[in-house]
Amino acid sequence: MDRSNALRMADRAMGLSRMPRRGRSQVAPSAEGAPIIGAQSARAPVEAHSTTPIAPRERAPVPPAAAATALRVVLSNHAEAATVQDPASRAQALQALRERHDRTCPHCTTATAHTHTVFGEGNAMARIMFIGEAPGETEDQTGRPFVGPAGDKLNGMITAMGLRREDVYIANVLKSRPPDNRTPLQHEVDACGPFLIEQILLIRPEVLITLGGPATKLILGTEAGISRVRGIWAEWAPPAGHGAPIPVMPTYHPAYLLRNYTAKTRGEVWSDLQAVMARLNLPARG
Ligand code: URA
Repeated sequence: MDRSNALRMADRAMGLSRMPRRGRSQVAPSAEGAPIIGAQSARAPVEAHSTTPIAPRERAPVPPAAAATALRVVLSNHAEAATVQDPASRAQALQALRERHDRTCPHCTTATAHTHTVFGEGNAMARIMFIGEAPGETEDQTGRPFVGPAGDKLNGMITAMGLRREDVYIANVLKSRPPDNRTPLQHEVDACGPFLIEQILLIRPEVLITLGGPATKLILGTEAGISRVRGIWAEWAPPAGHGAPIPVMPTYHPAYLLRNYTAKTRGEVWSDLQAVMARLNLPARG
């Protein structure tokens, strides 16, 4: 297939045929720094399916880092995460975590620039978990992740994968909006990040998709820019005693995609999503 056909196919599959809105998106990540954004439908059966092999990228893989150990994960707080298998108990455990977060998060209980905390939402049994950066304005107003312009783009990405938003789980590194949508500061990530780690341990997705720089940096413990690491499979190692490593696919944040709406970035994101679909034996789409 020639390159222009491949790009047209990527556009169709991702609902990207319309030109994006101009101007700053609600959260305006840079390729390297700012935000971006997964699941398993109630473990809806997925048919084994022939998938187009994704050509490996030519860069040396970035070694997975022990991001979890770098976080101050207070495992004694982690009673909810005792590998809860049934959907109702898992949803209950997530609710308990949400309440504990809202009561005790050292970041969100002291931050002043937000209206609502945005815990995250989606299928507690998701196979894919998307991780973004932090709530933007619409998210702050509604208390839901990815519901503004970047959310529309994320929805398009999910649909392109043949999934529904309710099949996946969506969360952010920070659960309250930073002033002026600025990139999260390290001390904020250190304070709020452990709750995201607990969310991951509860949901136990088969794949994490990190959206943009801050999420990728937190999960992979890397300083490498998103444009260097995107598209390369990595692993997130849970804290000792908390299960097997989870594969991670870093990709661009949907807001970055909106601001840099080129054939190249669209093709890159679609190729990253196709790699996840192939790994999970989701039907290929084109
Ligand atoms: N950008 C993010 O990183 N997260 C959201 O929830 C919305 C926009």
